[in-house]
Amino acid sequence: MTSPFAEHFPALRLDFSYLDNAAGAQVPARCIDAISGYLSTGSCNVNQPYGVSVRTTELKARARAATAEFLGCQPDEVMLGTSATALSFQLARAFSRLFQPGDEVVISELEHESNASPWRDLEAQGVGVRLWRAHWPEGRLELADLRALLTPRTRLVALTAASNAVGTVPDVAGAAALARAVGAWTLVDAVHASPHLLPDVRAWGADFALMSPYKVFGPHLGCLYVRRDLLARLPADKLWFVPDDSVQKFEPGTAPHELLAGWLGSLDYVREVLGDGVPGRAGLERAFRRIVALEQPLLESTLERLLAHPRVRLYGIAEPQGRVATFCFNVPGRTPRAVAEHLARHGVGVAAGHYYSTMTAQALGLMPEGAVRVSLLHYNSARDVERLMDALNRLP
Ligand SMILES: Cc1ncc(COP(=O)(O)O)c(C=O)c1O
Repeated sequence: MTSPFAEHFPALRLDFSYLDNAAGAQVPARCIDAISGYLSTGSCNVNQPYGVSVRTTELKARARAATAEFLGCQPDEVMLGTSATALSFQLARAFSRLFQPGDEVVISELEHESNASPWRDLEAQGVGVRLWRAHWPEGRLELADLRALLTPRTRLVALTAASNAVGTVPDVAGAAALARAVGAWTLVDAVHASPHLLPDVRAWGADFALMSPYKVFGPHLGCLYVRRDLLARLPADKLWFVPDDSVQKFEPGTAPHELLAGWLGSLDYVREVLGDGVPGRAGLERAFRRIVALEQPLLESTLERLLAHPRVRLYGIAEPQGRVATFCFNVPGRTPRAVAEHLARHGVGVAAGHYYSTMTAQALGLMPEGAVRVSLLHYNSARDVERLMDALNRLP
């Protein structure tokens, strides 16, 4: 057992250092109990007058309201779906009916393909796609570079709130302000950032945002935020009787109600355990101050030790500021897969590859093998870092 939070997370009771959190976080017992609690008391659809359906209707409304509180918006701006990627493709269908040939979109080089491929597909109908290049090998994005790409034809800027490969935290609010000045929308991918930094779509100035509860100690779900006044303008694929200004237009079919119950359980953990039971958004803010305080020493020690390691070549920002605890590196002479396999044999779980951040891997000249990725969350411990470094030292 390596996590000080193992009492809350059953999967963290195993003698294993889980350092692949960017691929999905572990879930607390409250999430698991809420899922089985929902299913054990009846599973059905919403809007009928019998008890379990009434409870399901309320559950869905509570999940939407809690997600809105988490994102910093209103419930009627939140769409719940199966994954961020599925939702971004749905949104791209709507954009394809709005954007005209000659319009432009700007995509940052740090994007996960979920916030790039759907917009790049618009090229087929004459929409220009411009790449906001990062500065490598650190992977920083400069606002001056974005400013030079924006034109009166720019409709959309797609930007991550944190890179899921190298951990960079860009200036999202600064980018959204520049986009707004030319009349463009900003779509913020908050998927990787959200277990580290509490999203705040209003403070960011985001028009759209993506978030995935399974990265935030929750079940496999995705969420889309659409600014209220934009919702009715988006021509989505929807059942004919669903009103144009309804979140249901991006929620075709039946929701996974048991997972919505689980997500509420995860947010309960965040507020009760990390936020000392303080209600509302204030509890989430308190919880995330704690998360930052717990992650900071792990971030600093991992960074320092990876930088000092004689065999490790680290990519990304080489100081603790401006990044989250997501580290991308290679060991020259060894494939990333071989390094990850060696670490797995020593009880450390990390990723190898490009993790769908293909533009980052390409810019760093790392395709096709990619790199090793180590990603930590608040529930990791100094013992996990120790184990990682011990195992790296034993790499043949
Ligand atoms: C930064 C980022 N954006 C988007 C996604 C895609 O999320 P989902 O799996 O919910 O489609 C991921 C998944 O790893 C991610 O890290």
